[in-house]
Amino acid sequence: MPDFSDCVALVTGGGAGIGRATAAELAARGASVSILDIDPSGAPEGVRGIVADLRDSDSVNRAVRSVAESAGRLDVLVNNAGVSHVGGIEDGDLDEWHALLDINLLGYVRATRAALPYLRRSPHAAIVNVASCSAASGIPRRALYSASKGAIASMTLSLAADLISEGIRVNAVNPGTVDTPFMDDLAARTDDPTAARAAFHARQPTGHMVDPSEVAAAIAYLAHPSNRSAVGSVLTIDGGLERLRTTPAATPVEEPSR
Ligand SMILES: NC(=O)c1ccc[n+]([C@@H]2O[C@H](COP(=O)([O-])OP(=O)(O)OC[C@H]3O[C@@H](n4cnc5c(N)ncnc54)[C@H](O)[C@@H]3O)[C@@H](O)[C@H]2O)c1
Repeated sequence: MPDFSDCVALVTGGGAGIGRATAAELAARGASVSILDIDPSGAPEGVRGIVADLRDSDSVNRAVRSVAESAGRLDVLVNNAGVSHVGGIEDGDLDEWHALLDINLLGYVRATRAALPYLRRSPHAAIVNVASCSAASGIPRRALYSASKGAIASMTLSLAADLISEGIRVNAVNPGTVDTPFMDDLAARTDDPTAARAAFHARQPTGHMVDPSEVAAAIAYLAHPSNRSAVGSVLTIDGGLERLRTTPAATPVEEPSR
């Protein structure tokens, strides 16, 4: 018996990477899954793709309403879509900071606000926010990106406290070095993308990048209706990158130059 068979789920950024793997995992386990993405062409088989931009409240509201009203319910929201940024506190003008926070933070706020009226009617509602291991470790030249992910990790805790009395569980995952187009893009911005990818693998205590399916499985675990007591958890799935110090610091990753 598929264990998500009575669930309707929405995954933001489900057209690629972690979101795509999560949509595929939930659908394979029987959920009715939709993704919201600026480019939903990568939606896995059996998953409904909706064009929407997390920077635009109307677009997000329309997409969430369409999913919940056509299915008659919404049980799971996975806030996942996000973008990277490389730089320190003095890099980029403030417009760049506003633009990234508009997706990585306010995008999660918009989707959550739009979904809550429907989640409140679900007997087993769950929200899973995708943060990052950068929320909990000091990664050089990631001031803006880390700030956006730290905000998600701490907002998750406050939301979990606010919503558990309504039966809505809120949790997060902190992935790290996941083999997705996001990391390909970071590698492509270095002088030697092949070497950068090799270094991404080498810096991991496990010796390999995380597969998106591993993060998807963790998200499904947190979202599962039977998992009544995972509340306000932030689950790290990063091959030990954040907490272990088993690899010599001498395994450098060439930093993107732009
Ligand atoms: N890949 C990693 O190593 C890693 C590590 C830690 C955290 N994360 C986080 O995981 C999440 C997913 O990362 P990924 O690696 O799968 O990324 P990805 O770039 O591979 O995929 C992101 C998806 O989000 C969509 N998207 C981007 N902007 C959007 C917008 N404004 N509105 C709607 N959709 C939009 C893209 O079209 C794409 O389909 C992000 O929040 C990222 O910060 C990734």
